Amino acid sequence: MNIASVEPYVTEDGRTIGGVLMELKHITLRFGGVVAIKDISFDIREGEIRAIIGPNGAGKSSMLNVISGFYTPSEGEVWFEGRKRPQMRPYQVAQQGIARTFQNIALFSGMSTLDNIMTGRITRMKSGLFSQAMWWGKAQREESEHRAAVEKIIDFLEIQHIRKTPVGRLPYGLQKRVELGRALAAEPRLLLLDEPMAGMNVEEKEDMSRFILDVNDEFGTTIVLIEHDMGVVMDLSDRVVVMDYGKKIGDGPPDEVRANPEVIAAYLGVSHD
Ligand SMILES: Nc1ncnc2c1ncn2[C@@H]1O[C@H](COP(=O)(O)OP(=O)(O)OP(=O)(O)O)[C@@H](O)[C@H]1O
Ligand SMILES: [Mg+2]
Repeated sequence: MNIASVEPYVTEDGRTIGGVLMELKHITLRFGGVVAIKDISFDIREGEIRAIIGPNGAGKSSMLNVISGFYTPSEGEVWFEGRKRPQMRPYQVAQQGIARTFQNIALFSGMSTLDNIMTGRITRMKSGLFSQAMWWGKAQREESEHRAAVEKIIDFLEIQHIRKTPVGRLPYGLQKRVELGRALAAEPRLLLLDEPMAGMNVEEKEDMSRFILDVNDEFGTTIVLIEHDMGVVMDLSDRVVVMDYGKKIGDGPPDEVRANPEVIAAYLGVSHD
């Protein structure tokens, strides 16, 4: 595999990786005196599963927050679909087809699985309150389209049995799956997952890994994944960015990154749980 080339290529497992979807150029992010990200550049290719790894506090979530528009970088540029992204609010970034899950679950715990996933449709809802009043029939048609899309996701994630359950009552692993469902409801082109398997047991991790691969394979969704479990990273990702103290210290296919002495010293030799 030739990383330097932006020609599409087919992976060993038969997935097609296309051209560059997003490019991060010289990103620096400061919080007062803290420099969370120091001059980091990398790209994300269409159809790719791109992992970001690194020790606690390395700046991984901050980087995801830059990609999602939640943070505006102090320096540097974000290029998406070949265009430099202007200053944008997070909801505008979401409307461009970028969805995310959070490191700490951020669901409405009193609401059902179904309703939580429905909230993920918001960026796709055209009828505002005013048009709903004016064009009641049209809004109703839209509502049933959204319901159908949500039901499809519920089937896909195999959570029919909990569709009416308030998510606060679900075990942690299933809550993480519902959160994935909510992100999928936006039908994103780029999906950002911040530690989707943290705190899961082996079986739950296997399930989540399978869903992530299926999302990528069946919908062609590009995925950026932060994950501490190196086995998972090695299994799932096409390329890995390694961060340490806000700097990028490695970037490449999992095997290459795993053999990088700087990466081993900074990260792989130590436990993070
Ligand atoms: N909103 C904020 N205000 C101030 N400092 C912040 C903020 N967000 C992150 N930081 C700091 O930036 C650095 C990077 O944090 P970040 O959460 O991005 O790391 P991380 O790699 O995701 O770590 P973890 O593996 O623990 O989730 C840390 O020093 C953190 O304290
Ligand atoms: Mg984090």
